Amino acid sequence: MSGHANEHATSLLRFVTCGSVDDGKSTLIGKLLLDTNSVYEDQLAALARDSKQFGTQGDALDPALLVDGLAAERAQGITIDVAYRYFATPERKFIVIDSPGHEQYTRNMVTGASNADLAVVLIDARKGVLQQTRRHCHVIALLGVESLVLAVNKMDLVDFDQAVFAKIDADFRSFAASLALTDCVSIPLSAFHGDNVCHASDAMAWYSGPTLLAHLHSVKAGERELGDQPLRFSVQWVNRPNAAFRGYSGRVLAGSLRVGDAVTVLPSRRETTVKQIVTWGDDSIEVATTGRSVTVVLSDEIDVGRGDLIVARNAPAQVADQFEADIVWMSDTPLVAGRGYLMKVGARTVSATLSEPKFRRNVDTFEQIAAKTLALNDIGVCVVTTAQPIAFDPYVEQHDTGSFIIIDRSTNETVAAGMIRFALRRSQNVHWQTLTVNRAARSSALGQTPRVLWLTGLSGAGKSTIANLVEKRLHAMGRHTYLLDGDNVRHGLCHDLGFTEADRVENIRRVSEVAKLMVDAGLIVIASFISPYAAERQMVREKFATDEFVEIFVDASLELAESRDPKGLYKKARRGELRNFTGIDAPYEAPVSPELRIDTANIDAVAAAEQIIEFLDRAG
Ligand code: ADX
Repeated sequence: MSGHANEHATSLLRFVTCGSVDDGKSTLIGKLLLDTNSVYEDQLAALARDSKQFGTQGDALDPALLVDGLAAERAQGITIDVAYRYFATPERKFIVIDSPGHEQYTRNMVTGASNADLAVVLIDARKGVLQQTRRHCHVIALLGVESLVLAVNKMDLVDFDQAVFAKIDADFRSFAASLALTDCVSIPLSAFHGDNVCHASDAMAWYSGPTLLAHLHSVKAGERELGDQPLRFSVQWVNRPNAAFRGYSGRVLAGSLRVGDAVTVLPSRRETTVKQIVTWGDDSIEVATTGRSVTVVLSDEIDVGRGDLIVARNAPAQVADQFEADIVWMSDTPLVAGRGYLMKVGARTVSATLSEPKFRRNVDTFEQIAAKTLALNDIGVCVVTTAQPIAFDPYVEQHDTGSFIIIDRSTNETVAAGMIRFALRRSQNVHWQTLTVNRAARSSALGQTPRVLWLTGLSGAGKSTIANLVEKRLHAMGRHTYLLDGDNVRHGLCHDLGFTEADRVENIRRVSEVAKLMVDAGLIVIASFISPYAAERQMVREKFATDEFVEIFVDASLELAESRDPKGLYKKARRGELRNFTGIDAPYEAPVSPELRIDTANIDAVAAAEQIIEFLDRAG
């Protein structure tokens, strides 16, 4: 047992385990539970039964079955994102954060590990340090976990050979040095037989270091002393049971919340003080410490919403809408730079785009390498731009307010996790100029309601023809208009763009910014673009006020559009002379709820234009 165990007698150690079931992760956790007597009698009896029936080790107890019981629950559809297991020895209490599953690392490992004091990275002694091992270590370092144990498992299967361990340890040291990990050790063990897990191994007398448990006893919990940090309170919902009471329910992420405290609400920067703190059962308390969920009542009637942060006025968080961030990509579908994703930071969700990576990391050498995108398991640095300013802290200062996930809008999949490094454009520095002659003034001078009519549909669906007719009609009515057409802008504004997914995303981004300026100028803009991706159309929509954006689906089946083929492009695409052609070898995601759908199989272009004019008349 380690000599310094007592120093940490009461402290809690949270550690995360990384590795796959094949590396013996479940076996190791199971063995730790068994050998620290953390398993109840009835669980032991069940384990003995299960081991006979399902175990891989004859009649011996199979510790993995203790842990993989959870796998059965998962099979029944009970989702376990991150499993937390508790065990204790007389010296210390432990929480094991385990992310089940075979994936190299998942969102769960990232979320679990951001709160860990230590990581145990498992490897199979027969396989040595693999790329996956380096990747795990890299993510662990990025997440700010300071201590790492390389658990070299299955030593029994390499005859407890010292040379095998020495080689793995040397490999590990050679790359661990380049990572920001303050404390790294490797331990040779056999999780199944228990060698060096809780008891020193007789078979490895050559090893003089601590057992895994002894090391876990001695390691200093890198307690981030959240309680001593400035207040960060995340508002999860506005609690308004009746007109007389308005409170904000949420959690104290850091620091403490005290009645009378001078606080600032972010991102609005409104200042107020804490009037009352209410807990479950309607008790009023004076102080709420880190980790507590409470309802706060503020002294002033100010606008506070879900996702806002209430912070100490003398040490506020930052507010910005552009950041440099470390990104861990977790989806099979690679990053599309410029695409509108959702970014979830604490309780706030905002639209966000990611730039092309500034660089990607080579996981073997940790070198920065040039990259256009990030694919599954890639780690890189991107610039993230949010549609609205958000409150945050750099990840190194505060994990909760500095980390986020990125969600694909159309599939709802979590595609990435990120850690904010720093803000690029603080909203304190770049102000929106409020101009005297504004949109309202211009629109009333023109005597019309500015709008964008966004026509989307396949090539050959009839967008340009209809757009042209609509503009003619509006012009005849004395309206001020402008027609933005896909083919035309590709001669100038977007002449550098082709038809890859990334280029189309950028095409739509530029065009929508132009449309926005024109709407601001008071015009009725008719935009005619295939705009095949739902995510980009949604992003365009969000750039406009609710009634300003009118999505018009010019609906023609592929067969119909192809039979028209006004420019002969479908024939070329079928002959393989034109790549990425929408409908042929590039997707078209039809709008689900457009403001207007035009069924071009049944009405001609003149009738279609009429439908649009009628829609505008109704809208006013
Ligand atoms: S979008 O996808 O980025 O919205 P956009 O509307 O600007 O496309 O341009 C489409 C026009 O470019 C089509 O009407 C067609 O004339 C031409 N074009 C050339 N190559 C392609 C292609 N691979 N896919 C679709 N359209 C193409």
